[in-house]
Amino acid sequence: MIGEVTHAGAPLTVQGTIRAPGDKSISHRALIFAAMADGITRIRDILPSADVHATAAALRAMGVDIPALSEDFVVRGRGLAALHSPESAFDCANSGTTTRLLAGLVAGLAGRDARFEGDASLSRRPMMRVATPLTQMGARIAFEGPPGHDGLPMRVTGAPLTALHYVNVHASAQVKGALLLAGLASGVSVTVDEPTRSRDHSERMLLARGVRLTITDRSVTLAAGQTVEAVDVVVPSDPSSATFFAALAAMADDGVLRLENVCLNPTRTGAFEVLRRMGARLEIEEERETGGESIGTLVVRPSSLTGTTIEGAEIPRCIDELPMLACLAARAHGTTYIRDAQELRVKESDRIKAVVANLRALGADVEEYPDGLRVTGSRAPLRGHVVTHGDHRLAMAFGVLGALPGNRLTIDDPGCVAVSYPTFWRDLSAATGTTGPMEPSPSRPLVIAIDGPAASGKSSTAQWVAKTLDVRHVDSGAFYRAMTYLAVESGEPPESWTPESVIPHGARITWRLTERSVLPLVDRRDQDEALRGSTVTRNVSRVAAMAGVRAWVNEQVRAAGAAVDVVVDGRDIGTAVFPDAQLKVFLTADTWERARRRLVQRLNRRPTDPEIAEEAEALVARDAQDATQSVPARDAITIDTTTVTQAEQVERIVALARATRDRLGR
Ligand code: S3P
Repeated sequence: MIGEVTHAGAPLTVQGTIRAPGDKSISHRALIFAAMADGITRIRDILPSADVHATAAALRAMGVDIPALSEDFVVRGRGLAALHSPESAFDCANSGTTTRLLAGLVAGLAGRDARFEGDASLSRRPMMRVATPLTQMGARIAFEGPPGHDGLPMRVTGAPLTALHYVNVHASAQVKGALLLAGLASGVSVTVDEPTRSRDHSERMLLARGVRLTITDRSVTLAAGQTVEAVDVVVPSDPSSATFFAALAAMADDGVLRLENVCLNPTRTGAFEVLRRMGARLEIEEERETGGESIGTLVVRPSSLTGTTIEGAEIPRCIDELPMLACLAARAHGTTYIRDAQELRVKESDRIKAVVANLRALGADVEEYPDGLRVTGSRAPLRGHVVTHGDHRLAMAFGVLGALPGNRLTIDDPGCVAVSYPTFWRDLSAATGTTGPMEPSPSRPLVIAIDGPAASGKSSTAQWVAKTLDVRHVDSGAFYRAMTYLAVESGEPPESWTPESVIPHGARITWRLTERSVLPLVDRRDQDEALRGSTVTRNVSRVAAMAGVRAWVNEQVRAAGAAVDVVVDGRDIGTAVFPDAQLKVFLTADTWERARRRLVQRLNRRPTDPEIAEEAEALVARDAQDATQSVPARDAITIDTTTVTQAEQVERIVALARATRDRLGR
């Protein structure tokens, strides 16, 4: 069910420096332009989120050599001629940008075609806006869903296209980008007019790659017959992601937050201007130019905020930030109006309806309009349950509200932040963070770390402890299983699995909170049964041995622990994963006893002494392998469970947890 984001009521001091992850729009385009060029493109600081992984996977399926996404990697492009049709459908997951941009690319590649599929949210989103102009240019686009449905699944068949001058009624960078890609792929000229200028990353990146464009206030023209050169990219931080923290700092009581490396492209900075207009103390430092974009550090301090009106040409410049601005308006003096924003209805969710419904459920004074909303702010605590509809920006906007003094929110799907900002919960907990070096702030969720050697009984004990304390149990093993399941499903034989082939599957794994646990989802679906299948069981240790996979699982577990109170068991939990867990327990038992317990579990009967001796020998070997990961944290409480029943262990840990909660004043 739920993730809780709570603040106990003490004033909120923000602190530190946040470097939001790479810009999503630039990340998609960096991969696509690298794939089109004939040459090597080095890409640094790409956003490694689910949406961008979807673009990378689609391009790989067309034959592009793209390694696992990391901080620094190269793409070896072989030009447009080397791109082939994918063997199976593109899985665009939740990503509208992947779908629309790649529809443009495929449309311009004569003789090639691709089927586009996505999750339930993406499948509902309108694709006619790209289909109409691409069809006018000569491509074939077929909607393969129910009659009258202009969403995914959709098939795009490329053709030799004709030139187009398209007058778009919406300002849309995705449509503009798709048409420029189609023109480039087919060698024809394209002009796109827009009512107001949409974000212009495509234009800036193409100009830097030797493509001639004529740009006016409201239009862009691509000349016929041009190629894209390979040019290295360093992706700046996403201003849409930074906005969550700018808003947090503006609403806090004290402190200062620095948001570094933020892309300050003028088509993207609408939210910062709105924040300033509402009274936020937001300054820009160290502004500089790199790779055709201006970037800088935002320094944001708490201040008193007043309502405003956001409408007209400003809307496209803050379209993705409107959920956060609406939530912020609920804490400002006076009334805020958002108008001319009907586009919000066809984003990852109907963001007008969802923001209004959620704010109302929390007790805010809101009104819905066909093209926007009204919010009248108040200082009354906001309490209640938030339904995200799997929409990342809703989870983060309400996550920020939940971190404010006096508010108490539960969020149904905090894991969906993986779409654009996988480390959001960790950064939120750092920003609202510790008030002193050792004293955790009450806003940080409680983490109980349970470590111990193999067969020390940690998993079943942790589950029981979590149940007794009514917090969630995180089974990190389930994440390894999810990864293994996808590796099996990919059809690649287990012997040839490498971190490079396995880690990208992580993009299809998110998590959701159930009543009792943090549940990994594959393609946003619960696959619990399939994850326990025998092929997965046989191969999971192969996957869990990969350092990169371990790092990825640890990141998921950390994100969950930054969002809600958890009991986590596993290896290196109290040391590497949660070095600042408020309670760390290390369970040990002598080898004979561990061997006996493991056999009882496996055989479901009393094992014989020779059987125990044999199992004990295997455990000694396993301990030797695990040696580095089985060391208790310096501040862990070790419990020798050799002569203690499981009920007694649980009782002791629960007593320690209650004492910890008392100490933290919860
Ligand atoms: C994007 C354009 C915008 C934005 C989306 C990313 C892009 O969508 O909302 O998150 O990278 O081109 P529209 O083009 O539909 O306005």
